[in-house]
This record gives sequence, C-alpha cells and structure tokens, in this order.
Amino acid sequence: MRLNSPRLNIIYNACMKASKVLIRDFGEIEKLQVSTKGPGDFVTASDKKSEKIIIEELLKAHSDYGILSEEAGEINKNNKEHRWIIDPIDGTFNFLNGIPHFAISVGLEENGEIVCGIVFDPIKNELFFAEKGSGAFLNNSRIRVSKKKKIKDSSMVTGGPKFNSQKKKIILEEYIKMSNLVEAPIRKFGSASLDLVYVAAGRFDGFWQWELNYWDIAAGLVILKEAGGYVDFMEQTSKISVKKNIIATNSEIHSELQIALNKKNIE
Ligand code: IPD
Ligand code: CA
Ligand code: CA
Repeated sequence: MRLNSPRLNIIYNACMKASKVLIRDFGEIEKLQVSTKGPGDFVTASDKKSEKIIIEELLKAHSDYGILSEEAGEINKNNKEHRWIIDPIDGTFNFLNGIPHFAISVGLEENGEIVCGIVFDPIKNELFFAEKGSGAFLNNSRIRVSKKKKIKDSSMVTGGPKFNSQKKKIILEEYIKMSNLVEAPIRKFGSASLDLVYVAAGRFDGFWQWELNYWDIAAGLVILKEAGGYVDFMEQTSKISVKKNIIATNSEIHSELQIALNKKNIE
C-alpha cells in the first residue's frame, strides 16, 4: 500500500478504526431486519459511532483543522485553510438493508481545494486513495479511468433523487428524461463516493447526479482527477445552492455527456 504521505496516513488510520465498528454492526443488521422496528435506529447509531471515531482521530492529529461532517456539522469553523470533509457511511440505505455496498469517505480540503482523500469500502476491503500530484490507487495498484471515447460504448452510473415531495417528483421526471438521452447502460448503486471512484478505476465511464452534498463526493473528486478523470458541476437548477450537481467522467466522453444531459431543457 503506497500510503507514504503523512496526511493520507492520518485519514487511513481514522478509516480503519471506524471500519471495525461498521463491519461489526453490518454483521448485526441481518438479525435486525426481521424485528418489527427494523434496523433504522441501529444504523443511525453506527453512523454516529463511525463519525465520532473519525473525528477523534483527525483532531488528535490536528486539533486546529476545520471539519465538515454529515452528522456533526462544522467544527473549528474559522479554519478556512485546512478542513476535513467526512461522510461516515456513504450508502446508508444499502447498509440498512444488509447490502454490502457502502463506504467511509474522508477528504482534506486546503484553501478550498481537495488535496487528498480516501474512499474505503470496508466489506470488499477496497481502499481508494489519492493525493494531488501523486496518482490514484486502489489498494496496491495504480488506477486510471477508461479510454472509452463514445457514450454508446460506455456504461454509466447515477444516483438519486429521493422523491418525497412535489419538487423531487419533478426532478425525477427530469432525471428520466435525461437518462433517456444517454445511449448507454445506466446503473444505480446507492453510494455516490463509490460511484465516483468506480469511474476513477475504469469500472464505469461516467457518473452524474443532482443535489449531492459536498461530503458525498469530496474525497472522490481528487481520486477521480488523479486517475485522469474530469469533473464539473452542472448549472444549478435548484435553489438549494449548497447542493452539488455533478458530471464526472473519464474525460473522453465528458462533452458528449454534458451535451446529452443539457438537452433535457430543449426536448
Ligand atoms: C447518499 C448516497 C447515494 C446518493 C444520495 C446520498 P448517504 O448518501 O451517496 O448514492 O444517491 O444522494 O445522500 O445518505 O447514504 O450518506
Ligand atoms: Ca452520503
Ligand atoms: Ca452518510
């Protein structure tokens, strides 16, 4: 494992410690599926436990660094120079349902740019990591994006939306319209951080999704870029401007995908 960078090591140690709790709790989920209450509260507790461990480890290394984490929110708000961005379980729905596809995602932002990050899938034991300028890795191997040049030869991954309101229904309709404009198999796996790093590893050629949170994608951004991918954020169609609309590809199919997705406005 080429984790010879001190800051990647800090993230690695935090992820490994938290993953032990997640692996153990995930093993318990099956039993809880059959209870009438279901595993909902249990999963919330796992999320919080994982987050607590990660935050403790990161603060142990740098007590002054800022933190943005899904459950805990912001810590050391005034530190704009260094900030850890954390999602303690990305893929909660999968975790909750005993589906072994979720990850811990931790990125380090330096003056607004993600400079290194880890996305760790504890069940498959797949550690995706990168540091700016040093390439992207999956466990011991360097990873690169695919070389597919046309969408028609590609495969895509997307996610969302969670449609529990009228607005979400409209977004869902737009999504379907967009998907119909993309001439490639499209999959939904339910973990945006893994979606992104799967593009980095060449397992998919492109990923897009509306209204993601920063912690879903922060670590994945540097991993994809270091693997030769390209990321940009679609024009905000939503008023919730903190949400991110992302297109992430192997670079080669980027403009074709962007044009296809934008077509939804005129069809
Ligand atoms: C979710 C996952 C999912 C995406 C959702 C996210 P969570 O994160 O990344 O793939 O479609 O938009 O909220 O809630 O499991 O941490
Ligand atoms: Ca998430
Ligand atoms: Ca989460």
